[in-house]
Amino acid sequence: MLRSCCVYGAGVLCVLLLIAGIAMALTQVFQKLINNTIKKQVVLENGTEAFSVFENPPPPVYMQFYFFNLTNPAEVLDGDKPFVQQIGPYTYREYRPKEEVKFLDNGTRVEAVNPKTYVFEPNMSRGSEDDIVRTVNIPAVTVMEKTKGRWFERFVSDLMTSHNVGLFGTFRVGDLLWGYEDPLLKLIQTFIPMDDHFGLFYKKNGTDDGDYIFFTGKQNYQDFARIDEWNGQSTLNWWSTEGCNRINGTDGASFHPVITKTEKLYMFSSDLCRSIYAQYESDVSVQGVPGFRFVPPSEVFANLTINPDNAGFCVPAGNCLGSGLLNVSVCKEDAPIIMSSPHFYQADDKFVQDVFGMNPNKEEHETVVDINPLTGMLLHGAKRVQVNVYLQQIPGFSSQTGKIRTLVFPVMYLNESVLIDEESAKKLYAVVTEANVIINIPFIVISVGILLGIIFIVFVCRQQTPPSTEAEREPLLSS
Ligand SMILES: *[C@@H]1O[C@H](CO)[C@@H](O)[C@H](O)[C@H]1NC(C)=O
Ligand SMILES: *[C@@H]1O[C@H](CO)[C@@H](O)[C@H](O)[C@H]1NC(C)=O
Ligand SMILES: *[C@@H]1O[C@H](CO)[C@@H](O)[C@H](O)[C@H]1NC(C)=O
Ligand SMILES: *[C@@H]1O[C@H](CO)[C@@H](O)[C@H](O)[C@H]1NC(C)=O
Ligand SMILES: *[C@@H]1O[C@H](CO)[C@@H](O)[C@H](O)[C@H]1NC(C)=O
Ligand SMILES: *[C@@H]1O[C@H](CO)[C@@H](O)[C@H](O)[C@H]1NC(C)=O
Ligand SMILES: *[C@@H]1O[C@H](CO)[C@@H](O)[C@H](O)[C@H]1NC(C)=O
Ligand SMILES: *[C@@H]1O[C@H](CO)[C@@H](O)[C@H](O)[C@H]1NC(C)=O
Repeated sequence: MLRSCCVYGAGVLCVLLLIAGIAMALTQVFQKLINNTIKKQVVLENGTEAFSVFENPPPPVYMQFYFFNLTNPAEVLDGDKPFVQQIGPYTYREYRPKEEVKFLDNGTRVEAVNPKTYVFEPNMSRGSEDDIVRTVNIPAVTVMEKTKGRWFERFVSDLMTSHNVGLFGTFRVGDLLWGYEDPLLKLIQTFIPMDDHFGLFYKKNGTDDGDYIFFTGKQNYQDFARIDEWNGQSTLNWWSTEGCNRINGTDGASFHPVITKTEKLYMFSSDLCRSIYAQYESDVSVQGVPGFRFVPPSEVFANLTINPDNAGFCVPAGNCLGSGLLNVSVCKEDAPIIMSSPHFYQADDKFVQDVFGMNPNKEEHETVVDINPLTGMLLHGAKRVQVNVYLQQIPGFSSQTGKIRTLVFPVMYLNESVLIDEESAKKLYAVVTEANVIINIPFIVISVGILLGIIFIVFVCRQQTPPSTEAEREPLLSS
């Protein structure tokens, strides 16, 4: 009697557990619970952990520069293909605290500047800032481009010849990056008002690039740390007339807690003067924490034939350079600077073939962002961009440009990377594991229900076994 009570109890419990489990799975009650917990944690408020991470992001950011050392300058001026050797990395640790932080609009937005300081890391570098690199003399090319066809063209050309300023020159790596006084720029200041210093990162050390206004996530948690305005401009205009604009995203990637595979991540890069987007590519694991890898799809760089949306790449309008290249001349004081991926990865093969020494490959030259989908936290990111100069013969400067081919000459590429620090990774791992257990509660309940169901069925079958079999066994037992 007691036994059958237990059996039927198990049966009832099994049905209840199955109903409860299925109901919980269907209503996603635990999923919602976790989302709500995350929502509460991703609001920027004075004193919260999210805010201290926002003010002083703990993971170290490294900026690594690689230069292309030209080995055959005389031959290139005679019309040969350039032959370059990659040197570097020259590695800098990047410190980027938020400063002058002010809450606005009742705490729904927060204003800050984001100065970046670069400190050389000899142990992570191959070579020193005193290394010499032979490459294009960018100030000279800029001066030629700006003077061509103007009345003082001849004068500037003679000045360059007499001062021995050519298309190529040798430079100290530290100077080329952080700035040096250029003799030619100094000489022609009366004709062309320009800063007489030049450097690829001139005046970038310790300076900020303007006022940012971020959403705190108080109104909508999906807006957490999203940029609303930069230097008074709304960041929603996709193409501004200047072609220089920043859109959705904190430097790195736009931050959407609970990220999905279909999301497009907008990444702003002041080097590119525009933002590009990245799409889900694969699942990854960074220090044991699961993540989604987002990479810019090749359409982002494709030419107009393949992607008509890229009309914005063609500046001035209608002037397209081909897949993978972006003319950023207007953002660089009219220097003929062209941006691409390192080694012309994902660009037209023509540009790779034009220069000996280009070896594009996915692993090394792709921009990647790895994000934990549950929290939207950045696990690892690497932004990789190459700076090139557009070279061509300029009739008024025949002694400088010689018989050079028209080509896109690679000068340098950078890899700005960040990897989650071990402590944050451990914390995140614990959160993810806990969330996984909680999310699986309905399935655990269903499994227990099924188990009870099996026990119930087994017992019921045993009880219904005909008594005759038992009778047959009796002699065996008694003997
Ligand atoms: C945060 O609170 C501290 C102490 O109350 C205060 O000194 C600081 O100015 C506040 N920060 C902001 C950005 O409001
Ligand atoms: C600011 O927030 C407080 C408390 O949430 C609310 O009572 C007040 O109306 C808000 N003020 C404005 C201007 O939104
Ligand atoms: C940048 O500035 C910091 C502090 O002012 C200094 O320590 C560092 O050496 C500078 N970096 C470069 C590359 O000049
Ligand atoms: C780059 O090339 C120049 C000229 O050939 C050479 O003097 C220099 O040492 C090279 N730089 C590096 C870092 O190898
Ligand atoms: C930026 O984000 C907002 C809100 O999430 C969205 O409406 C807008 O379309 C985004 N901008 C671009 C250029 O995608
Ligand atoms: C665009 O790229 C494709 C493939 O690389 C090529 O066939 C086509 O000619 C290119 N179109 C233009 C306008 O450059
Ligand atoms: C790049 O853009 C500038 C300014 O818009 C233009 O003058 C120049 O001709 C363009 N360069 C190339 C190679 O198309
Ligand atoms: C940055 O990228 C380069 C290749 O583009 C690679 O050699 C280097 O290891 C990367 N640095 C980090 C810190 O991942």
